[in-house]
Amino acid sequence: MATIQWFPGHMAKAIRQLEENLHVVDIVFELVDARIPQSSRNPEIERIIKEKPHLVIMTKSDLADSEQTKNWIKKFKAQGLPAIAVDSKANITTKTVTRISQSILAEKLDNEHQKGLKERPIRAITVGIPNVGKSTLLNRLVNKRAAQVGDRPGVTKGQQWLRSSSKLQLLDTPGILWPKFDDEETGQALALTGAIKDQRFASDDVALYALKFFRQYYPEELQKRYKLTEDDFELSDVDLLLKLTKQFGMKDDYERASDRLILDIRKGKLGRYTLNRTDGVAVE
Ligand code: G4P
Repeated sequence: MATIQWFPGHMAKAIRQLEENLHVVDIVFELVDARIPQSSRNPEIERIIKEKPHLVIMTKSDLADSEQTKNWIKKFKAQGLPAIAVDSKANITTKTVTRISQSILAEKLDNEHQKGLKERPIRAITVGIPNVGKSTLLNRLVNKRAAQVGDRPGVTKGQQWLRSSSKLQLLDTPGILWPKFDDEETGQALALTGAIKDQRFASDDVALYALKFFRQYYPEELQKRYKLTEDDFELSDVDLLLKLTKQFGMKDDYERASDRLILDIRKGKLGRYTLNRTDGVAVE
C-alpha cells in the first residue's frame, strides 16, 4: 500500500507549520470523522501538540451510528480527552464549543484573572486530515458579520483570527494532519468513507471490505437496500459482489459495481454506520 500523498517532506512541512501555529493558540480542536474516529486520527497528534489543551470534535456525526458515537465520546473521555460530536452541515453551535473550551481552559483563564490580566478571547486552531470537515466547521463557527479580527503578533503573515463568538477566536488556517494507514483495514475504512478519494485502493477490495462489514454489523440495512434473500447471505463476499453486479445491470463489471456500492455507502443509502467499533472487535 503506497502513501503517495504524504512524502516525508510534506509531513515535515505540515508538522512545522502546525508547531509554529501552536505557539499562538490556547487550545487545539482535533477533528475526527465520527464514522472512523480512530482511523481518521493521526497517532502522532499527542506528540505534535504536546501539552496543549485539546478537544476532540467528531464531525459528520449525522452519518455515524449514534450509539457508537456516544461510546466513542466516553472512550475519549476515559483517555482524558474531552470530546463532542457535531453535524457541521446543520447544527454546530458556537455556544457549546465556546463553553467546553472555557471549561477545559478554566485553570489557565482563572490564573490570568487572578493576576489581574484583562479578559480575552480563547484562541483555537482546528486540525485534522484532509476532508474531515475543517473548512465546513470553520464556516459554521465563524460569525460572518464580524468574521475578521485582523492580524495579531505571532501569527504568520497572511493568517488571520476569525471571530467565532466574543469569547472564541479561530485561526483561519487549519492544521493539516495526514492519515496514517500502515494496516489494510485503516486504509479501507478511509477509502470507504471518502477520506481518501483517489485510486490508491482497488475499489473491489474496498467493496469486499464493506460487504463483510455491513453483513456483520448492519445486515438489515444491506438486506433492505439490495433486497437480499437469506440465501444471498450464505454467499461468499466475492459471490455476493458478483450477484450485486448482475443486479445493478452491470454484467460482470464488478469494479463499476464496487464503485456504486461504495458511493451508496458514502451517501448514507445504507443508513448510518461507524466503521471503527468501540467494542474493539476487529473486522476480519
Ligand atoms: P476539509 O476542510 O477538512 O478538507 O473538509 P471540508 O470542510 O471541505 O469537508 C469535506 C466534505 O465533508 C464536504 O463534502 C463537506 O460538505 C462534508 N462535511 C463536513 N462536515 C460534515 C458534517 O458534519 N456532516 C456531513 N454530512 N458532511 C460534512 P463534499 O462532498 O466535499 O462537498 P459537499 O457535499 O459539501 O458539496
